Amino acid sequence: FQPKLLQGKRMLITAGPTYEAIDAVRGITNSSSGKMGYAIARAALEAGAEVILISGPVCLQPPAKVKLISVIGAQDMLAAVKNEISHTDIFVSVAAVADYRVKNANSQKTKKTGKNIMLELTPNPDILEYVASLAVPPFCVGFAAETENLEKNAEIKRRRKKLPLLVANLAQDAIGSDECALTLFDNAGQHQLPKARKVEQARHLVKHIALLYEKKRL
Ligand code: C5P
Repeated sequence: FQPKLLQGKRMLITAGPTYEAIDAVRGITNSSSGKMGYAIARAALEAGAEVILISGPVCLQPPAKVKLISVIGAQDMLAAVKNEISHTDIFVSVAAVADYRVKNANSQKTKKTGKNIMLELTPNPDILEYVASLAVPPFCVGFAAETENLEKNAEIKRRRKKLPLLVANLAQDAIGSDECALTLFDNAGQHQLPKARKVEQARHLVKHIALLYEKKRL
């Protein structure tokens, strides 16, 4: 009997976009299908983990055995993460969190006037940074979708957010697609995962996470 790689481990995943209301019927959001995050949830379940999936609005069926927590905005996502973070071994932040939200969102539908209007945006909390700087953080994995200078931007982001592992991809190749190429950045350097289906990439990634996690504990 071969124990599974993540047997007995608790993994918390954020996935999908966040949606920040402008008024009762309008909002701003990021492009994200949630496919990568949901694929990682599936792969982690296959590897024996208990999986909590905190998801922004997506059109995907969650895997049967995950605990799904649906959220809308970045602040809801942070609150859900805070509720679930204790006893978490591994935190995988795949969500495309909106960097800003509307400062004075209208709870009613704003009427058209034909004139210009101004939206004041205020920064959202950085959920991954919050988790990574906890006194005893879980093993934190970040994602970076970049449109250019992938390597440089990814490594800067990994160091700034103090992450043992950052997964980078080119936004224009990955968003909404069933396939993507990934580059993993960790303390040992870079690892390429050439273009493949996201379900396959998720399995490779979960294996890599499990190996690094074990190494860190030794
Ligand atoms: O947006 P950015 O490229 O900095 O995202 C890098 C990582 O940080 C991603 O893993 C994303 O899920 C996370 N993030 C977050 N909260 C934010 C912005 C980004 O958790 N407000």
